[in-house]
Amino acid sequence: MKVGILGSGVVGRTLADGLSRIGYHVMIGTRDIQKEELQVWLETNREYHKLGSFKEATIFGDLIVLCTQWTGTKNVIEQAGIWNFKNKVVVDVTNPMDGKGPDENGRLHFALTNNGSAGEQVQAWLPDSHVVKALNCVGNIHMVQPQLEEGQPTMFIAGNDDLAKKAVNEILIKLGWKDVLDMGGIEISRDIEALCILWYAYGFRTGSWTHAFKLLKK
Ligand SMILES: NC(=O)c1ccc[n+]([C@@H]2O[C@H](COP(=O)([O-])OP(=O)(O)OC[C@H]3O[C@@H](n4cnc5c(N)ncnc54)[C@H](OP(=O)(O)O)[C@@H]3O)[C@@H](O)[C@H]2O)c1
Repeated sequence: MKVGILGSGVVGRTLADGLSRIGYHVMIGTRDIQKEELQVWLETNREYHKLGSFKEATIFGDLIVLCTQWTGTKNVIEQAGIWNFKNKVVVDVTNPMDGKGPDENGRLHFALTNNGSAGEQVQAWLPDSHVVKALNCVGNIHMVQPQLEEGQPTMFIAGNDDLAKKAVNEILIKLGWKDVLDMGGIEISRDIEALCILWYAYGFRTGSWTHAFKLLKK
């Protein structure tokens, strides 16, 4: 399978590396393929790594992973061309932060003012695609092969299409996730995205950024 990764920040590169290591051909879509870190990344695995524009990566991917800063996300989707996402599974890793950073108490704030979520907004922008919220409730260092001393973290996912969630579940398992929980339709993104604020607040208070969430059952 070919995967188009939109956004070349730490998340995009982490997932691109993780996916190519388990056998997927990946193209990172970016505004600037000449960036030094991207050229280095390209050289690490010439057979499986590719670079292109947002549009080229979206055309390339059978599956798309959205790893953009929230404030640039609409722009990226428009540059990629909405029609190039048609009928594809889109894994939405974004968190809808306002980009202003934490307040004095270490609380991040969302850019969305109503009761919505990034997942729902992305699904509304891409009505002919199958958006699955995933991988947004954990720091990038644990996105691939998460290893925590206190146990296996939980990956919460949500989306409207069961087959799309099944496909994403299988990829997550290959990426080393052992506890993937389907929480329901894309509107549950509101609750999964809220976890990122709690995740950040813990890091802010403790200075430690290697934590992850686990849903415990009896
Ligand atoms: N960092 C984490 O540990 C973490 C964990 C969970 C979820 N997330 C979420 O995952 C997403 C990516 O995180 P990140 O830390 O990798 O983000 P980032 O480095 O801040 O941004 C990712 C990419 O977004 C694109 N972008 C930003 N502004 C843009 C604009 N105006 N127009 C077009 N493209 C723009 C850029 O792509 P190019 O530079 O390639 O053009 C940039 O590299 C975010 O939504 C974040 O909230 C992050």
